[in-house]
Amino acid sequence: MRPFLWGAATAAYQVEGSAGAEGRGSSIWDEFCRRPGAVLGGMTGDLACDSYRRWPEDLELLKRLGVGSYRFSVAWPRIQAEGSGRPLQAGLDHYRRLCEALLEAGIEPAATIYHWDLPSALEAAGGWPERDTARRLADYADILFGALGDLVGRWFTVNEPWCAAFLGYGQGLHAPGRRDEGEAYRAAHHLLLGHGLALRAYRARGLAAPIGIVLNPSTPRPATARAEDAAAAERAGAQRTALFLDPLYGRGYPEAHLALHPAARPPVEEGDLELIAGPCDMLGINYYDEDAVEAAPAGPGRLEAWRKAPSWREKTDMGWDIVPEGLYRQIMALTRRWPIGALYVTENGAAFRDEPEPAPPAGGFPPSAEPGPAFRVRDRGRIEYLRSHAAACLRARADGAPVEGYYAWSLLDNFEWSLGYSKRFGLVYVDFASGERIPKDSFWFYRDLVAGQELGAPPAGLSGGS
Ligand code: FCB
Repeated sequence: MRPFLWGAATAAYQVEGSAGAEGRGSSIWDEFCRRPGAVLGGMTGDLACDSYRRWPEDLELLKRLGVGSYRFSVAWPRIQAEGSGRPLQAGLDHYRRLCEALLEAGIEPAATIYHWDLPSALEAAGGWPERDTARRLADYADILFGALGDLVGRWFTVNEPWCAAFLGYGQGLHAPGRRDEGEAYRAAHHLLLGHGLALRAYRARGLAAPIGIVLNPSTPRPATARAEDAAAAERAGAQRTALFLDPLYGRGYPEAHLALHPAARPPVEEGDLELIAGPCDMLGINYYDEDAVEAAPAGPGRLEAWRKAPSWREKTDMGWDIVPEGLYRQIMALTRRWPIGALYVTENGAAFRDEPEPAPPAGGFPPSAEPGPAFRVRDRGRIEYLRSHAAACLRARADGAPVEGYYAWSLLDNFEWSLGYSKRFGLVYVDFASGERIPKDSFWFYRDLVAGQELGAPPAGLSGGS
């Protein structure tokens, strides 16, 4: 069995800042943030964690954490300001430097090619509902394969195409803020096609590092043991799950789901499904919560005939139920239903209302030879969340699921999309006024977990046996 990979993740628009630096073009998120009412308090990613400039500090944090892999994303508008044409050397140099420094520290660079920052020029030309955007993504990806292929240890083509398509073009909650169900399905198809075209370009280069896509499947549990609730749960999960996994694993689009959405006509052309089903080396899943759902009368706008059941579960600051066994269930369900060769939990974590408090001087904290910070964040909730979810992951692995790694979301508190800086997901607290980084208690917990001290086997001698 391959060793388990522990990592931490971020995404470019959420942490980098330096929005206008070195020829970077505008993305749909730059524009969306400027639309009144779109993002809480009119907040933007202009500065964020300032990681474009402060990445050496972030690297030091990763080293102290001891993770084996850092999942970051490349900002498309830093590579192609307008989304096409010759690349910007400054952007490529930045990510080369980052990758080289990670490798030097013994940390695998895991690059996400597209984490939602579509160049504005491509949105002006129609965005993801247009087929050409898929070709543009593949061209951009191929630039990265050429420029970073000798350094990147793991590639993820697209992050959460469901969010990009359905929050961006269907519900209008994310950039570019359009609201049209038909467009959302067109966008979903072109995001998958972009993935498939990028994959083909990657294979043509003969690079060896594993490549895959990152989804956020939803596998709600039926609220009761009634058969109709089980059927409702299947319908409720299909748009985030079968709609993507079926075509990725060569089964075409799920007709039962499309039939419930009259506007849903993925614009499939000859050869598309073969491209989308190109063999991947791994699948990434982002897991945060699990809902319980029950059958409900169908009605206008509710053709799928289900609703969320009320829940007694404790919630994170996002209002999301904390359900660690849901991660176990999801991994088992996905790997039974689709022939997934290797699976990585590419994001998992929780937002809580963290408050730094002055740390007692020389108070023996943190529990190591590390220099003690002036502030401490006692985020017990996040520690419990991470511990239970990492354990769920390892349980699925012990039960035979091909789970090979886990990335905590996120290394840093960052720009949480339409909720701005109001939701803190970091292992590290960020003071957004000064850029100062303060490792939270969960940072030290995760360091110990990665080192095998929190979830590992009992020490030799205590493990029983013959
Ligand atoms: C996921 C996104 C990630 C982050 C988390 C909380 O949907 O991929 O960027 O915002 O949610």
